[in-house]
Amino acid sequence: MWSPELSALLLLCVSGAEVVSAPVCQSVAPNQTRLDQVHTAFTEQLPGFPFGLTYAAEHNYAFVSLNAAAQGEPSTLGVLNTTTFPPVLIHEVPLQDPRLQANAALGVALSSDGKYVFVTAGTGAYIVDTRKAIAGVNGSIVGVLNGNRNITGDGAIEITLTHDDAFAFVSQEYGASAESRGNVDVFKLDYTAHNAVSSKHVGYINLGNAVVGSALSPDGQYLYVTSEGAGSNFTSAGLASANQGILSVLDVNVLKNDPSRAQVSNVTAGCQPVREIVSSDGKLVWVTARASNHVLGFNASALVHDPANSLLFSLQVGTAPVGLTFAKHQSRIITADSDRFGTPNAHTGLTVVDVKAAVSGMKDAVLGYIATGLFPREFAISRDRKTLLVADFSSRQIQAVDLTTLP
Ligand SMILES: *[C@@H]1O[C@H](CO)[C@@H](O)[C@H](O)[C@H]1NC(C)=O
Ligand SMILES: *[C@@H]1O[C@H](CO)[C@@H](O)[C@H](O)[C@H]1NC(C)=O
Ligand SMILES: *[C@@H]1O[C@H](CO)[C@@H](O)[C@H](O)[C@H]1NC(C)=O
Ligand SMILES: *[C@@H]1O[C@H](CO)[C@@H](O)[C@H](O)[C@H]1NC(C)=O
Ligand SMILES: *[C@@H]1O[C@H](CO)[C@@H](O)[C@H](O)[C@H]1NC(C)=O
Ligand SMILES: *[C@@H]1O[C@H](CO)[C@@H](O)[C@H](O)[C@H]1NC(C)=O
Repeated sequence: MWSPELSALLLLCVSGAEVVSAPVCQSVAPNQTRLDQVHTAFTEQLPGFPFGLTYAAEHNYAFVSLNAAAQGEPSTLGVLNTTTFPPVLIHEVPLQDPRLQANAALGVALSSDGKYVFVTAGTGAYIVDTRKAIAGVNGSIVGVLNGNRNITGDGAIEITLTHDDAFAFVSQEYGASAESRGNVDVFKLDYTAHNAVSSKHVGYINLGNAVVGSALSPDGQYLYVTSEGAGSNFTSAGLASANQGILSVLDVNVLKNDPSRAQVSNVTAGCQPVREIVSSDGKLVWVTARASNHVLGFNASALVHDPANSLLFSLQVGTAPVGLTFAKHQSRIITADSDRFGTPNAHTGLTVVDVKAAVSGMKDAVLGYIATGLFPREFAISRDRKTLLVADFSSRQIQAVDLTTLP
């Protein structure tokens, strides 16, 4: 947890620090020290490309979206037995439903009550009953979220639920072609029917281009959303080109009723920001800027009250960081350095950042990297906090990392 000592240090150090500016675009990141002492192991090759991961509420299980769109097949939700290290795939739920015609399953989110896992695809998401999925029985898809292809697009990628599971926020990466920008779709959920979850599309908000990651503040008041580009000439074909993206702050109460008016502020967040996490005390928002090879730390209060002065830290990590997670009681941040564009002389890996050193502006905040498969993308952490699962998308494996061996 965030200690008072660390908060005091934060104030002390930041008050005397120079202004931090958002990092420019980079190609290859400098090589780091490899952390060979960290214990890690890989699953066998999976039937699809793993994207999103979450542990189940039940002990010993986790879920992974296995994207099979490249093979022209329906994607599945994989059920993992996590008793072993690494875990083992035990079932797959085919993600097929007449109400949502979509092949490419991507982001996952577990409801707070643990009963459902949401998997984004196409115009929305599949809603899967976790108990049925674990038991491997048919009929585990109990609902869908379905947006409007013509208005908000069909590039659903990440999903965040409110703490009471009553609303779902789905990022539509590219929006609809008519508007050619990304947005966040808002759905209201209804769990009152027996064995089914129904949903209503409330509306959406446009937020720059290539909208991907979202995360809620711990108090549920704000949704932080990254857009890879802010300019009007950003296209999916131009993903690898120079473009400063933004971090937006949305007011969740407004988002629930009148989504298009929910933006409180936005700030420049480096080149192609893609994911964010929020410290458990709600004070810091950390963002991966994929094409800057940096992780950025923002002052959450300043994002609302003084956006121009909200960027506190900017740290070099590996090449093309995507996912990020806290580890070891938030004393570490780990980034998934994807090298997704195959940059010459780059390597993939998981950069391990010492948060306390980062916050005090020390040069040695980066401890090194853990070797991975190809295109490490997203993470999940076990309930006992001892195991990190990594989706190595392009090598079609899940990698387990023993966090007790982390420096
Ligand atoms: C999970 O793995 C453990 C260890 O191999 C095994 O004993 C158990 O039966 C497995 N459970 C399921 C549901 O496959
Ligand atoms: C479950 O689904 C599979 C594949 O669609 C089908 O072959 C099987 O008969 C179903 N089983 C039951 C009990 O409905
Ligand atoms: C960012 O905020 C400014 C107002 O401060 C607004 O004019 C602009 O449209 C916003 N950009 C995006 C992409 O939402
Ligand atoms: C448009 O793209 C060019 C590079 O192709 C870039 O220099 C410029 O900043 C972009 N403009 C906007 C508004 O994003
Ligand atoms: C964070 O921002 C708030 C509001 O602008 C400010 O009062 C506080 O001093 C800032 N904290 C740090 C560590 O810069
Ligand atoms: C990193 O190290 C490898 C192997 O020594 C080397 O081939 C590569 O050029 C280095 N990359 C950078 C960016 O220094």
